[in-house]
Amino acid sequence: MNTTPQTVGPEALASASFTDTLGMSAARARSAVLEEQILKDPGQFRVLTGDRPTGRLHLGHYFGTLHNRVRLQNLGVEMFVIIADYQVLTDRDVADNLTGHVEELVLDYLAIGVDPARSTIFTHSAVPALNQLLLPFLSLVSVAELERNPTVKDEIAHSRQSTVSGLMFTYPAHQAADILFCKANLVPVGKDQLPHLELTRTIARRFNDRYGTGSAVFPQPDALLSSAPLLLGTDGGKMSKSRGNAITLASDAGETARLIKGAKTDSERHITYDPASRPEVSSLLLLAARCQNRTPDQVASDIGAAGAVALKRIVTEAVNEYLAPIRARRKEYAQDRAYLRHILREGNERATAVADSTLAEVRAAMNSHD
Ligand code: TRP
Repeated sequence: MNTTPQTVGPEALASASFTDTLGMSAARARSAVLEEQILKDPGQFRVLTGDRPTGRLHLGHYFGTLHNRVRLQNLGVEMFVIIADYQVLTDRDVADNLTGHVEELVLDYLAIGVDPARSTIFTHSAVPALNQLLLPFLSLVSVAELERNPTVKDEIAHSRQSTVSGLMFTYPAHQAADILFCKANLVPVGKDQLPHLELTRTIARRFNDRYGTGSAVFPQPDALLSSAPLLLGTDGGKMSKSRGNAITLASDAGETARLIKGAKTDSERHITYDPASRPEVSSLLLLAARCQNRTPDQVASDIGAAGAVALKRIVTEAVNEYLAPIRARRKEYAQDRAYLRHILREGNERATAVADSTLAEVRAAMNSHD
């Protein structure tokens, strides 16, 4: 999930050039094949996925990716969930309230059904060997490659900072370390993360070519693109915590009702699902449909000529009903901060053991001596 203040959407990025468009359709086709393989043999996959700790997760995150993570976990895919705390510093000078944001993420994960007995939740700053991988990885990429990354370019263009830090240019290589330290072979992502995944694959390939003796040290991980259409924020823009247009998993029923009541719609009374010409109404329909496991057209035809007021009432009910058990679990976990810290400590320990072993392999392959 991209949490920087941005205006250019992932679509614009994806269609920025012909090559990118080709890359998208290839990634889509590949994802369909992967979905079949996951159903057949979930045990051959290890997923690495995660978020920057910059605030609470919202419904855009949930239906875009979180829901899918839990599905994969429950299918039997091994999962590592990274809280990318160093990455918060790419577009701001200080990571505000880091401990609080990290705990909020852990709460969101637990509430939606990430099971810490099966999935490893950890912060990358707590895993030294993961970060050490960054140095050999950086030696495998050129400055030109780092400068070409369209997502980074977009983030720089919309950054609130007056200067661009070295971390901003190198975080995609850091992200490669996030993924490769545990030899993940599957990364569920949105379109904006595809360039980072491409770089990860490049780094894995170059490392294997340069240092591998017969067997590959790293897999070349696949992107698993979400097929879920994008939910808009209540103002019709991209749903984002910083814009105040997002319904978070943690917000209560009343706040949810208020946000949806103020949502942008249009002047046409008859409700129809038409994402191209009625984006705001359609996004609300989509939201209700996802919560009720129906199609947006079905929701629309139920409302018909009853208009935006009826639409908003139905969406509010659907969202609040869907989120009720998630919110109840979240509240319960929130009472027990010691448990949250325990989950993180355990996750960090597990991730550290895996990273230590990968780093040892890397050092051996590079002929570093103890
Ligand atoms: N860059 C991702 C985001 O902004 C977060 C992230 C960090 C991540 N490391 C990752 C995502 C590794 C997938 C894999 O949301």
